[in-house]
Amino acid sequence: MHGTIFTLLKRYVQTQYDHSTWVKLVQLSGLESGDFSHKEVYPDEHIYALVGHAAEMTGIPAGELHEKFGEYLVPDLMYMYQKYINPDWRTLEMLENTEHSMHGQVRREHPENSPPVLDVKRLNENEVVINYVSPRRMGGLAVGIVRGLAVYYDEADLIDVLPTTSEDGERVQIHVRRN
Ligand code: HEM
Repeated sequence: MHGTIFTLLKRYVQTQYDHSTWVKLVQLSGLESGDFSHKEVYPDEHIYALVGHAAEMTGIPAGELHEKFGEYLVPDLMYMYQKYINPDWRTLEMLENTEHSMHGQVRREHPENSPPVLDVKRLNENEVVINYVSPRRMGGLAVGIVRGLAVYYDEADLIDVLPTTSEDGERVQIHVRRN
């Protein structure tokens, strides 16, 4: 997994909890260091261990933590990849374009990057359906990112995010509707 995701997880834990919580998580997860470079790719097992221990420590289920963390990621991801974003896009257009635009760029950056495949269909002006496919089983993160995008575009009151499958499978379907 991309080092940026680890760096943002670290900042998330430090701001929502505190620095000593982060240090504890790193120790419990058996990691040598709690610092990550945005140019490196780290084993997925590290993110599972960090989130798993965070769930145990906080009593918040891992799926829910993935969602919260997904929401938190959005402003930074939008900032980092702003040159691939069309300023006319809103939440639904952003979703329609993530696969070839942002995730496409992530794939080009590093041969080991492997963002999930997002098959996004626009059903009509106000609805899209996202088919998430990834062996990482991080559909909760996807749901959180969609919610975060709605907040980013100031459409949180208008956008409903409805997972229509379980969020922890390799294939997750998410229905998004603008009211
Ligand atoms: C600003 C737009 C976005 C950017 C810049 C972005 C960027 C990234 C990056 C850098 C990764 C790490 C990939 C890796 O380590 O191989 C990632 C993973 C991920 N992205 Fe995105 N993403 C964006 C939008 C989205 C959206 C809209 C969704 C879902 C609807 C999504 C779902 C995910 C998930 C679930 C992962 C975790 C890895 C996995 O499940 O396999 N992303 N993304």
